[in-house]
Amino acid sequence: AKIKEVEFVKSSARAKDCPKHDRPEFAILGRSNVGKSSLINSLVRKKDVALTSKKPGKTKLINHFLVNKSWYFVDLPGYGFAKAPDAARMDWSAFTKGFFLSRDTLVTVLLLVDASVPPQKIDLDCANWLGRNNIPMTFVFTKCDKMRAGKGKRADENLRDFQQFIKDNYRVPPPWIMTSSVTGLGRDELLLHMSQLRNY
Ligand code: GTP
Ligand code: MG
Repeated sequence: AKIKEVEFVKSSARAKDCPKHDRPEFAILGRSNVGKSSLINSLVRKKDVALTSKKPGKTKLINHFLVNKSWYFVDLPGYGFAKAPDAARMDWSAFTKGFFLSRDTLVTVLLLVDASVPPQKIDLDCANWLGRNNIPMTFVFTKCDKMRAGKGKRADENLRDFQQFIKDNYRVPPPWIMTSSVTGLGRDELLLHMSQLRNY
């Protein structure tokens, strides 16, 4: 499951500009600022493979990263960023949905959910949309380090609420993994999970 090398391949403005469907890919999806780019950097153990920012809306294109010359990480723009200027605001329906519906090499969507805030309707809507379209997903809870920093209990409740939603809405609930890009929590578990999915 080890990552030995990672190289940036290209940024694409639309699904049809993406690299050919020649390798398994894992797409990283979630609200703006949830920690998508940070998670990629944490998994590949490099600081700046994917660009991150304190301000939401940093990632604006579909970015393909080739890992171990054999599979792709796909960093996507975040959704739900209301303050983006019109030109930069991503049309979730035309842009990202097109990607999901056209990529037959997609192994699973890693749907990132911020564990430090209460369940957000937009995350639930996104999970429901993926489910309805039979796109496999894995819930990845991010920023789990914040649960230990003071506000602990409340964050645990947020997480429980979201997990309850998953249980209530899926006959076979998708897997979920707790992570932190700060402490490295869940890194090995997630990489193992991904390597198992690739080998099916
Ligand atoms: P967009 O590209 O704008 O959609 O954002 P993104 O989802 O790629 O988020 P990004 O990785 O740029 O991180 C956003 C902010 O959250 C940055 O300030 C990160 O340092 C912070 N962050 C990301 N992951 C974690 C985490 O696990 N724990 C904590 N405490 N902060 C995190
Ligand atoms: Mg990003």
